[in-house]
Amino acid sequence: MFVKTAERVVVVGGGIVGTSVAWRAAQAGYEVKLVDARPGTGASNVAGGMLAPIAEAWPGEEELLELGSASLQRWPEFAAELGRAAGRSAGLRTEGTLVVGVDSADRTDLDRLADYLSHRGREVTRLTARQLRELEPSLGPAVRGGLEVPGDLAVDNRAALAAARAAAEAAGVEFVAAAARQVAPGRVELAGSAVECDVAVLAAGAHSGELHPALRGRIRPVKGEVLRLRARPAALPPPSRTVRGPVHGRQVYLVPRDDGLVVGATQHEAGFDTEVTVGGVRDLIAGAEQVFPGISEYHLVEASAGLRPGTEDNLPAIGWLEPGVLVATGHHRNGFLLTPVTVDAVLGLLRGEQLPEEMKSADPSRWGGSSAGRH
Ligand code: GLY
Repeated sequence: MFVKTAERVVVVGGGIVGTSVAWRAAQAGYEVKLVDARPGTGASNVAGGMLAPIAEAWPGEEELLELGSASLQRWPEFAAELGRAAGRSAGLRTEGTLVVGVDSADRTDLDRLADYLSHRGREVTRLTARQLRELEPSLGPAVRGGLEVPGDLAVDNRAALAAARAAAEAAGVEFVAAAARQVAPGRVELAGSAVECDVAVLAAGAHSGELHPALRGRIRPVKGEVLRLRARPAALPPPSRTVRGPVHGRQVYLVPRDDGLVVGATQHEAGFDTEVTVGGVRDLIAGAEQVFPGISEYHLVEASAGLRPGTEDNLPAIGWLEPGVLVATGHHRNGFLLTPVTVDAVLGLLRGEQLPEEMKSADPSRWGGSSAGRH
């Protein structure tokens, strides 16, 4: 195998994408630094961890469906390798996903989703309320019908983040606890100093737009509030599958954890605001309780908000911004889902390869720059 030993890579951003890229690059023989003032504390820490390209498909987002499906296929191997490298579980859950609806408008939405998926060659099984309750007896009486998506998985985001950090450290990544101010060829500017490199990989999520001129106005923060609930001893155990609404037209999802559930997520264009609002918590609890009334006996452990890095077309930006500067951001609602394909693409680009055909829609050159080569 051709291993690069002398090339210095600086990754900016310690979320799941940046940390995984750093791990893989160090494993491949690059000398890697990861710059982040507080790695693992941004959107990746708040995420629910759905790996659900089918359940979250949306008409008009066909490229995202293809990209997400390709990445989902890589998750089992990615999680296994990450777990081995880290010496701890990466938190993959394989129980599958249900999409459920409460009122007739929700069920019409589910029919539309099923028809759309069928046109895209992705068959999902329609289930009656009774069939749903055979699979998940704890679903509430309000749930009237749904879809079974056994191939859509989930990951414990915090387990995966901790594993990526441990794997990166074991592979020799040096963590630089500082905030990046600007990313340029050969240099990542920090407050009062700089880190030199051969290639910088900009993976700073919603903050990426502030760090390179080509991304200005291209990446915007999309706020999402999320609850973490723990099952108390006498409470009903949570559904074993991820369960996603619409509940009276509002999107809500419940993602199981070993000790309870993550309930998400609101979606607001609110700038860099990460304060949790009373209305956000109320809406999440109201929606989740229709799906699984048992949550009223759960301990509300945490309410937090993260900033998804949104783009105009909801596709990520993965590729060269200019020689010496790679970008891997804009993953919006799909950071965990798209991590394996993103990491593989970035490693390929570092080796001097082209973006794979399935990733071309993510090339930042769609914003008018040149599809720059590496040098
Ligand atoms: N993927 C779910 C979310 O971003 O809320």
